[in-house]
Amino acid sequence: MNQYPNVFIFDHPLIKHKVSILRDKHTGMKEFRELIEEITTIMTYEAMRDVHLVPVEVETPLEKTLQFRLPEESVAIVPILRAGLGMVNGVHKVFPTARVGHIGMYRDENTLEPHEYYFKLPDGIEEKTVFVVDPMLATGGSAVDAVAALKKRGVRQIKMMSIIAAPEGLEAFTKAHPDVPVYVSTLDRCLNEHGYILPGLGDAGDRLFGTK
Ligand code: PRP
Ligand code: URA
Repeated sequence: MNQYPNVFIFDHPLIKHKVSILRDKHTGMKEFRELIEEITTIMTYEAMRDVHLVPVEVETPLEKTLQFRLPEESVAIVPILRAGLGMVNGVHKVFPTARVGHIGMYRDENTLEPHEYYFKLPDGIEEKTVFVVDPMLATGGSAVDAVAALKKRGVRQIKMMSIIAAPEGLEAFTKAHPDVPVYVSTLDRCLNEHGYILPGLGDAGDRLFGTK
């Protein structure tokens, strides 16, 4: 059951199927990367449900009709490095012209505190709907800080998208940013003593990029 306001947890058989393969320690890097991308694309459809459309007049072969389209260049993607990079193509499948900003964050292994090491955003991002993507919402520290940095820069429309979340991370994120909707494919049980999500999928960055 979802007790968090403003959190959308997917309950879709296709996502469940793909997440189960993602979790499997025998799933190799190529398949892992493809699955992250596919799951992200499915999630993006749902996350854009409330995106603002503009009216346009279209002439079919038979008559003129009033239709609705996404405004040009209305979306940007901001992956939290490194693992968020794996989700960028998944959003690009739906919004191919979306510009991409990058926020580099690493978690201190001992304190689990996030540290920012890179920050670069496209011009005009303040006017766009920004999808912040990171496959793992564990303590929530990285996502909380990344979204705070975007707000400080003037971004107002933010959607947080993660593949797997821990209850601790959702709690922290929704407390810090109650105005930001969060889309997660799966809510897991808890964190272990090293801040890893259980049952989780291990280290998303390492599995995506073949490190370790
Ligand atoms: C992972 C993950 C998130 C963060 C989640 O990144 O991709 O960014 O941990 O943990 P949190 O919710 O407790 O902040 P990591 O710091 O391992 O860096 P990496 O992506 O470069 O591997
Ligand atoms: N980061 C990961 O990659 N995996 C976890 O389980 C927690 C943080």
